[in-house]
Amino acid sequence: MSGISLATAINNQWVSNMGTINCVGILTSGGDAPGMNAAIRAVTRSAIYNGFEVKGIYRGYRGLITGEIVPFRTENVSNIIQHGGTILKTARCKEFETPEGRKQAYDTLVKEGINALVVIGGDGSLTGARIFAQEYDFPIVGLPGTIDNDLYGTDHTIGYDTALNTIMEAVDKIRDTATSHERLFFIEVMGRDAGFLALNGAIATGCEAAIIPEISTEIDQLEELVKNGFRKSKNSSIVLVAESPTTGGAIHLAERVKNEYPQYDVRVTILGHIQRGGSPTAHDRILASRMGAAAIDALLDGQRNVMVGIRNDEIVYVPFSKAIKYDKPINRELLNTLRKLSI
Ligand code: F6P
Repeated sequence: MSGISLATAINNQWVSNMGTINCVGILTSGGDAPGMNAAIRAVTRSAIYNGFEVKGIYRGYRGLITGEIVPFRTENVSNIIQHGGTILKTARCKEFETPEGRKQAYDTLVKEGINALVVIGGDGSLTGARIFAQEYDFPIVGLPGTIDNDLYGTDHTIGYDTALNTIMEAVDKIRDTATSHERLFFIEVMGRDAGFLALNGAIATGCEAAIIPEISTEIDQLEELVKNGFRKSKNSSIVLVAESPTTGGAIHLAERVKNEYPQYDVRVTILGHIQRGGSPTAHDRILASRMGAAAIDALLDGQRNVMVGIRNDEIVYVPFSKAIKYDKPINRELLNTLRKLSI
């Protein structure tokens, strides 16, 4: 008997002794993130390796309600690790926010014989998972899949590193034209209510400032920088702005500066959904692979209603209640570094 089949046989027995879980459903939900496919592959292969049946659920919670479900074998997840997006498709599903929608979803799970779920998504998706898990006492493990990096309890989320690299490449290109024309650019990046992409994107590209929702005084700092003409010898300036009602966004800030300081040649770029696409970086592929395997380990361990996280390069399990409830703090050392290096 080979090593793999021995492990499968042992785990099969262990699983059947446990008498509860034999079929795992996987879905992706909310905004897609590069590395979701690597996570789907890891969950599927690791589940099969451990003797579980696997079913792929299409279009997030919507597919759970409408029953868009297919059995997954190892071949279903071949050649996907390198692709952005999600082969399972994704959606933001309003019906799942209602008790009626969740009841339909539960009925589908019973009909399909699925007795555990792995949900890959961000804050909203894991909030839905938590409510459902409590309501139906259903085992769910979450994987943090979002470019925003805004989930508490994990150093990184799947997709964040790729999005950061996409931002870096785009800003580097804008720097060329900004320098040639001696312009001031405001570049808006995603992140919903979090400034991780903006702050680290600014450090990675040598930006003059980052305006992030977590630190409101940054707008005063910007005012100072603009008033003092940045550094006189600089012939281009780039400010990264996190999208958020708190920052007001890049268009709003650029208008303010244009009105008050007409001597600046100001331009705005909104990077938009380009940040969500593309082939995942090695970091995201490895993170998603580790987290996907860890999701199945968690189910084998009898854990439920936890999000898989990574802290100091070690896999951790974070209760949904914490991952969703707490705000992940910005590291102020990064902010100081940006200020020191942008003089
Ligand atoms: O949560 C991921 C994210 O890309 C956010 O950064 C952004 O605010 C939002 O999704 C955009 O959502 P949509 O694609 O639905 O417009």
